[in-house]
Amino acid sequence: MSEERRESELRNDPSWTGLILDSVADGVFTVDQQGRITSFNKAAEKITGFSREDAIGQYCHEIFRANTCFESCPLKHTAETAENIVNLEVNILNRENKEIPISISTAVVKDKGGKIVGAVETFRDLSLIKELHKELQRQYSFQDILGRSKPMLKLFRILPDIAKSDATVLVEGESGTGKELFANAIHTLSNRKDKPLIKVNCAALPETLLESELFGYKKGAFTDARTDKPGRFRQAHGGTIFLDEIGDMSKGTQVKLLRVLEQKEYEPLGSNKTERVDVRIIAATNRDLMEMMHRREFREDLFFRINVIRLTIPPLRERREDIPLLLDHFLERLNLKQSKQIKKVSASALKTLFDYDFPGNVRELENIIEHAAILTKGIEIQSRHLPSYLKQRRYDPPPAAPSIPEGEDMSVLDNVERDLIVRALERNRGRTAAAAKELGVHRSTLWRKIKRYGITTR
Ligand SMILES: Nc1ncnc2c1ncn2[C@@H]1O[C@H](COP(=O)(O)OP(=O)(O)OP(=O)(O)O)[C@@H](O)[C@H]1O
Ligand SMILES: [Mg+2]
Repeated sequence: MSEERRESELRNDPSWTGLILDSVADGVFTVDQQGRITSFNKAAEKITGFSREDAIGQYCHEIFRANTCFESCPLKHTAETAENIVNLEVNILNRENKEIPISISTAVVKDKGGKIVGAVETFRDLSLIKELHKELQRQYSFQDILGRSKPMLKLFRILPDIAKSDATVLVEGESGTGKELFANAIHTLSNRKDKPLIKVNCAALPETLLESELFGYKKGAFTDARTDKPGRFRQAHGGTIFLDEIGDMSKGTQVKLLRVLEQKEYEPLGSNKTERVDVRIIAATNRDLMEMMHRREFREDLFFRINVIRLTIPPLRERREDIPLLLDHFLERLNLKQSKQIKKVSASALKTLFDYDFPGNVRELENIIEHAAILTKGIEIQSRHLPSYLKQRRYDPPPAAPSIPEGEDMSVLDNVERDLIVRALERNRGRTAAAAKELGVHRSTLWRKIKRYGITTR
């Protein structure tokens, strides 16, 4: 027999193909058009725990019992549409009913005449990769807070000592940077962790309501006070109170809070009996308390009492290296919540996200990803799934020659005003109504100025 003939016979010999398949590390199996397994290699046996004898002749869903088996079987999809699937992650159950994450790829199998006779699936065990991934995430997380940027890792390092110290903490940071997460972590790591953590948003209530909320009231203190009501300080006794948006607290309430800080005592509304509490205070603000203090809007003595330990959480745009980590985390959560299989973010979508400034910080990133996940049907978030405002160019810097009417010069003040308007428009993504509100001018005034300074709007 000629060498050539022997080779060709060998190639067509099913046991030869079997030998090759058994030597690959990926699981490989084929099904006929009814979905019954017709071949099953060694790696498939190893990953699933089922022997070839167990598997052949069974429907593949009986062996794999994957989360996709009944809703959207990838093999069935391939056999029906001749569309191949590449690297789809699914979870199967092995023989011991243990969940195993695998990545699968599928292709059709045709006979010599080109007729589809079944499909082939290759699959790879992802358990180890997933473990490593989890380990990495553990390294870059602290309680529920994720971060791998230098400033976040530094915060993680000092947090346990701060938590244990029992000192008053001021958490500063723009909206959506994670101030509340830090407050939770401080409480959880403190010796007060088994006692309550009580949260009060100081911006949500007008002065007297906030005071009755914080300090409680006695029956008859006001018309609706039919019974005594303990305040949030009393509820937090032995534990921690989180005073959110403390910069919005009125000066009257500030005095009362100062007394709690200095003497650990207060009187409920309508009572002249002093109550004593043992409470640790964590305060948060997205305002500049120091500046407020200079403007006499925040009491100096209270500021120094609160500002014992200050944690400043940097905005997301100053720690962009945290974006991929956060994306991963939010996607994992959304996949569970929305029963999706999104695994990736395309390079161009990632670039759009990296180029964006996130005025709403981590919360905004979370919302953007939720929006994108709803629109994504496949496994990858693409640019077109992102909200369109991300892709519009940010506000251009003022043009070199502003179109000030002839004969008029741009004074220093004009320049400042122009700059303020451009920034307000930037912050509000070009929405003139919102920018006007922020600047405290009527919308038509803003329009007049936009025209006067030649600012280009979208
Ligand atoms: N580092 C982080 N890791 C994971 N999730 C985060 C992180 N930072 C913020 N988040 C998430 O972003 C959202 C906003 O966080 P949080 O409420 O703590 O911010 P905040 O600074 O208190 O905002 P605001 O000033 O608006 O009250 C939450 O859903 C939170 O879980
Ligand atoms: Mg908050």
